[in-house]
Amino acid sequence: MKAKILAALREAEGYVSGQELCERFGVSRTAVWKAINQLKKDGYEIEAVQNRGYRIVGTPDILSENELSSIRKTDWIGKKIYYYDETDSTNVRASRLAEEGAEHGTLVVADQQDAGKGRRGRGWSSLPGTGIFMTLILKPELNPSNASMLTLVAAMAVAKGITRCTGMEAKIKWPNDIVINGKKVVGILTEMSAQMDYVNHIVVGIGINVNNESFPEEIAQNATSLLLQSGKRVNRAALIEAVWEEFEHYYDRFMAYQDLRDLRKEYDASLANKGQKVRVLDPKEPFDGVAQGITDRGELIVDTWEARKLVSSGEVS
Ligand code: BTN
Repeated sequence: MKAKILAALREAEGYVSGQELCERFGVSRTAVWKAINQLKKDGYEIEAVQNRGYRIVGTPDILSENELSSIRKTDWIGKKIYYYDETDSTNVRASRLAEEGAEHGTLVVADQQDAGKGRRGRGWSSLPGTGIFMTLILKPELNPSNASMLTLVAAMAVAKGITRCTGMEAKIKWPNDIVINGKKVVGILTEMSAQMDYVNHIVVGIGINVNNESFPEEIAQNATSLLLQSGKRVNRAALIEAVWEEFEHYYDRFMAYQDLRDLRKEYDASLANKGQKVRVLDPKEPFDGVAQGITDRGELIVDTWEARKLVSSGEVS
């Protein structure tokens, strides 16, 4: 009931009368009054004016299933949301849920992770009430060899969502880190369970440093948050919504060809080091060159003195 009333208050342009809420949801005045009080307790500022009704005037930066569901505008992402105040890792949770039958589009969100996973076996640290930790479950009809491109699709969606919510230009550091003014603000970890030619499920995990005021010394040089970059706090639920709205658009365009031919230009426009010198940390032999953009399959095109090389994995600095 809380979520329904919250959504009704949000949709309304002005006040919504208690009577209207009772009729719409088929509940008593007392039930509406109780739900409004619970919302106030959760931190929502709700004005109540006699003969006019209720109006929402302030939203707290909290994450909850209610909050996320009430602002949801996506088509298929987040029809089912699992929210945890604390969990080990949203990727681990999501993989388990996917194995247990959770549907394509199910979203797992946490306020804090105790065992957040980063790429290459690294961790991903978290403080409660500051960041976004979320994972989307996908069960696409996709050849497993095309799955890694989804990580670039996710990077595009996060960059665009951040720009929409903050006005700041977020760039993509190939393949899928998001940087602002050269410092990392987002990490993405995509994991897959598959047979040779069949995807069981893919989980796309996204960590965003949103309202962090500082970082541990060992990462402070390379990490930043939206708050540190803009000086303004960002409503996390609104940013989550924006990211997945963008993801749905990009995902459709990716799935149309099962590659990045339709997204490549836009990805390149957001590429942090396009036209710049990069060092490719190839495990066999690191090399230097100039990053030119990506191929239809998401490889990074790097021109060295001798040749054009296509980088499909590894890190670029
Ligand atoms: C990286 O190393 O850059 C990737 C970090 C990915 C972190 C996110 S936070 C939400 C999701 N759950 C995890 O355990 N990891 C990803």
